[in-house]
Amino acid sequence: MANSNQINRREFLVSTGQGTAGLAGAAWLTGAAPATGAVLGANDRPRFAFIGVAGQGRFNLQTLLKEPNVEVPVICDVNLPRAHETVKLIGGKAEVEQDYRRVLQRKDIDGVFVATPDHWHALITIHACQAGKDVYVEKPMTHVVAEGPVVIAAAKKHQRVVQVGTQQLSGERYAEAAELIRAGGLGRVHHVRSWNTCNRTPGIRKPEGQKVPEGLDWDLWLGPAPMRPYDSVRCSGNHRFFWDYAGGRLTDLGVHQMGTIQKLMDVKGPLSAVAVGGKFAVEPWDYWDTPDTLNVLWEYPGWTCEFVVRDGSAYAPEGARWGIVLHGTKGAMFIDRGGFEIMPDDKRTEHKIVGTPRKSGDMPTQLSGAHIRNFLDCMRSRKQPVANPTEGHRATVPPLLGNIAFHVGRKIRWDPEKDQIIDDPQAAALLTKTFRAPHVLPKEV
Ligand SMILES: NC(=O)c1ccc[n+]([C@@H]2O[C@H](COP(=O)([O-])OP(=O)(O)OC[C@H]3O[C@@H](n4cnc5c(N)ncnc54)[C@H](O)[C@@H]3O)[C@@H](O)[C@H]2O)c1
Repeated sequence: MANSNQINRREFLVSTGQGTAGLAGAAWLTGAAPATGAVLGANDRPRFAFIGVAGQGRFNLQTLLKEPNVEVPVICDVNLPRAHETVKLIGGKAEVEQDYRRVLQRKDIDGVFVATPDHWHALITIHACQAGKDVYVEKPMTHVVAEGPVVIAAAKKHQRVVQVGTQQLSGERYAEAAELIRAGGLGRVHHVRSWNTCNRTPGIRKPEGQKVPEGLDWDLWLGPAPMRPYDSVRCSGNHRFFWDYAGGRLTDLGVHQMGTIQKLMDVKGPLSAVAVGGKFAVEPWDYWDTPDTLNVLWEYPGWTCEFVVRDGSAYAPEGARWGIVLHGTKGAMFIDRGGFEIMPDDKRTEHKIVGTPRKSGDMPTQLSGAHIRNFLDCMRSRKQPVANPTEGHRATVPPLLGNIAFHVGRKIRWDPEKDQIIDDPQAAALLTKTFRAPHVLPKEV
C-alpha cells in the first residue's frame, strides 16, 4: 500500500517537471497553452483524475460524467476503500491511487478535480499547476489568506485553467440580478445581509481511542495540518468545523455567499471586518472548534455586509435556511440559488420574481453542471473561467478575515488592493499558518 513517505520531495519535483522545463497543457487544447507530451484519449477527450471522493467529490464526479467526451481514468483518495467504492459507482473502469503526487506524475491526465478537506486545496492546486494539469478545486480555494497569491501565481506561470467550486458564479439568475442592481433597480444599496441557520444542538461528542482504519493514510489526510491521533469526527465532512482544516460555516457557505455578494456589488474586497460569537448553543462537551453563533460585519465603500451563523435555532429568516438580502433605497432583493425576488419600497420599483426563490431553495445540480461546463470550455479555449484563482481568492478573503477578527476580538482593517491587514501585526500573523513538513507552501512556483 502506498503511503505518504513513499514519494520523497526530490522524486516528486523531478517527476512533475519543477526545476526542469516544466510540463504544460494537453495537446487537445488550443490557444495559449504550450504543448505537452500528455497521452490523449480517443477523440480528444480530456482525461481527469478525481482527488478526494467523499460527498462533494462524488457529486462533482457524477456531474462531470453527464458531460459528453470526458474520461475519468483515475480515482484518488487517501482512504483506499472509499476510492475503490467510488470506482464501483462509476462502473469499475478507473485505476485507484492513494497519493495525489502519483496522480500528478501521470502523463495521461489532463485535469484534476480536488474535493479534499480545505487545508489541502491550495497545495494540491499549486502542485497540479506545476505538473501541467488544469484544476477544478472545491471552495474555499484556500485555508489561509497567504495561500491565495501563490495559487494565483502558479496558475499564471504554468498557464493552467483553474476553476474554484463557487458554482453560484455560474448562475444565470445571479448574473441577471447583478445587471439589475448595476442599472440602479434597487436604488443605492447600502446594506447586505446573509445567513446560515440550523439547529445542531446538543452537539457532537469527541470519539475516544479510535484506531486508524485499514486502508487510510491518516498522515497524508492531515498533510500540512498538525499531527494528532486519528478520530472519525475530524476525518469526515465535519473537518469543516476544526480550525486546523477549515474555518467553520463562515468559510463553508460564507465563501459562496461573499463571492456572490461581491460580484453583485462589483467590488474586490472589504475595507474592514469585525466578528463576535462563540459556542453558546451546544453543550460544553461538543467537540467542534468553530463557533455555533457568529455575527460578522464587513465594511465596503458605501455599504455594510453581515453574515450570521446560527447553529442553535432552525428558524429560517425570509423562509430560507440560507440566503442573501440586498437592501437598496428603492427596494430589497432576496436572492438564493432558486432565483430572486424584489420587494419594492416605492412605486417606481417593480415587484419582480425571477425563478422560484425560497421554494426551490437549492439547485446545486444545475449550477454545478454549468460551472463544470465553463471549466471544460475554458480548458479548450484557454480563457479564464468564471471562478478563476483571482475570483477564488476574493471570495475566500472576507470569510477568512471574519475568522481572524473573531480570533483577535477586534475590528481589523483590510487593504483589498495590496491584500494586507492594516496596522495590526497580531492579526496579520493569522494570514498564514505553520505548515507541517514536507507539505509546505512553496516560496517559488
Ligand atoms: N461547491 C459546493 O457547493 C460544495 C459542497 C460541499 C462541499 N464542498 C467542498 O468540498 C470539499 C470536500 O467536502 P466533503 O464534504 O466531500 O468532505 P469530506 O471530508 O467528507 O471528504 C473529503 C475526502 O477527501 C479525502 N482526502 C483527504 N485528504 C486527501 C488527500 N490529500 N488526497 C486525496 N484525498 C484526500 C478524504 O479521505 C475524503 O474522502 C470541502 O472543501 C467542501 O468545502 C463544496
